[in-house]
Amino acid sequence: MAPHPLEEPGISSRFVDPCILVIFGATGDLTARKLLPAIYNLAREGQLPSQFAVVGFARRDKTHEQFRQEMKEAINKFSRVKPVDETVWKNFEQQIFYHKSEFHEPSGYQALQTFLAELDSRIGTRGNRVYYLSTQPSFFTTIAEQLHKAGLIYDARSVKDKWSRVIIEKPFGHDLDSAHALQDELLKFMAERQIYRIDHYLGKETVQNLMVFRFANSLFESLWNNRYIDHVQITVGEEIGIGTRGAFWEEAGLLRDIVQNHMMQLLSLVAMEPPINLSAKEIRDEKVKVLQAIRPFTEEDFKTSIVRGQYGKGFVNGEQVKSYREEANVNPNSNVETFVALRLFIDNWRWDGVPFYLRSGKRLPKRASEIAIQFKHPPAVLFQQNQHQNEPNVLAIRIQPDEGTSLKINCKVPGPANPIQPVKMDFRYGSYFGTSPPEAYERLILDCMSGDSTLFAREDEVFSSWNLFTPLLNNWAKTPPGKFPNYASGTWGPEEAEAMIARDGRKWRLL
Ligand SMILES: NC(=O)c1ccc[n+]([C@@H]2O[C@H](COP(=O)([O-])OP(=O)(O)OC[C@H]3O[C@@H](n4cnc5c(N)ncnc54)[C@H](OP(=O)(O)O)[C@@H]3O)[C@@H](O)[C@H]2O)c1
Repeated sequence: MAPHPLEEPGISSRFVDPCILVIFGATGDLTARKLLPAIYNLAREGQLPSQFAVVGFARRDKTHEQFRQEMKEAINKFSRVKPVDETVWKNFEQQIFYHKSEFHEPSGYQALQTFLAELDSRIGTRGNRVYYLSTQPSFFTTIAEQLHKAGLIYDARSVKDKWSRVIIEKPFGHDLDSAHALQDELLKFMAERQIYRIDHYLGKETVQNLMVFRFANSLFESLWNNRYIDHVQITVGEEIGIGTRGAFWEEAGLLRDIVQNHMMQLLSLVAMEPPINLSAKEIRDEKVKVLQAIRPFTEEDFKTSIVRGQYGKGFVNGEQVKSYREEANVNPNSNVETFVALRLFIDNWRWDGVPFYLRSGKRLPKRASEIAIQFKHPPAVLFQQNQHQNEPNVLAIRIQPDEGTSLKINCKVPGPANPIQPVKMDFRYGSYFGTSPPEAYERLILDCMSGDSTLFAREDEVFSSWNLFTPLLNNWAKTPPGKFPNYASGTWGPEEAEAMIARDGRKWRLL
């Protein structure tokens, strides 16, 4: 594997220690759709150590063989490369195991301890462990406590010959207080450096490329400030609804599920200062400074700069779809938001006065995530007669789908007259490198196994983000949203979102 530009010095994902990866919640959706396909692809590409095992932990009765078969079917369905390569599978399946237990049952962890020790001596995994908590957040502390009691999490200060790390799925808390409470609980059983808070957006190639793009090209970095940039738009849109996750969604909502974590991570990478080196500490120090410099929302902002929405019936891809309130396990009078648009400011020298517009929603017309840097209008001295004179340059970084970057520039149309037309310079990962980028989970699981936490959220990043959004969530909790649903499925959200940006003399990009 080529060294990654964000590799922490001294830590190379090519030298991963032998280890066992235990997945809690192994019969769940995430394991089947993302985790096992990612691990399979790492095996297929020869990136896993030969002394490696993956153990699924869940409560259903199942043999190792049954679990392997189910995972093979999942890989065949969800892997980016399919069908399963039988030669790879023959070896890989021997490394997959299943352990049945309830999360709160101490005897299950004792049995796990015995089983893992047995695998250590059989396979040579040397006691090294990654525990992936792919479970509902309410189980995070129970599992951490039980692992600790069973001696499965090592004290990182005294145990030096083996290591244990814990990957925590989102969401990390549901507001500032609960995030602190969760952190306090986890710290009873492990050290912060053993905690890997996963945000799969950080594992996406285009997101990692943001730093390379900014700091390995003097062209853009010199323009990356309030002198040249008019505003920034970040969109995370999905055409799908909430599917079968109604119960989860009723507790979370879009602000908690997408804005507070993924979008804030994108924003901090776009806006951060260059770190002094590429170590996890320095990069995360710079990211957290951005989050801490965001101007807190005021009561006025709640009314004028933030819009929440919920989808009604409509048509997506030509098919009629139901409203959020009609989805399974959703309260028919629910006030949970499935759309958010907001404007925020970063109060530092680089970004003073530059608005950042964020919008995200379910049941939008298409799946599209991008960051658009809109530069200032050129002065109207030379080409003011041209119809397109007012088109500003836009640098658009597409995160998904069709990963790549495009730059919109104005250009003279060939011919004797002088009409100007915006044209796009377009870079596409797929066509340039001839391969689709690896799945985010591949990168992140391998990073955790190598002890590289650069692409995982640190505690202060999570707290800073909750610190910004908790007053908004409190405000929403006491102020009913008015008329919900307020946008039809298959549209770009409520009209208020258009009006919000239009008041600033700007408009949302057409994606
Ligand atoms: N699914 C996604 O697309 C997605 C995306 C991003 C993040 N996440 C996060 O990933 C985590 C897992 O999500 P998921 O969708 O995979 O959840 P899920 O489908 O509900 O799976 C939960 C898993 O936990 C097991 N489980 C539940 N209670 C248990 C208990 N008392 N003892 C032992 N096992 C128990 C379930 O086993 P049974 O099958 O026996 O119930 C199942 O294996 C969540 O934190 C979620 O927020 C999910």
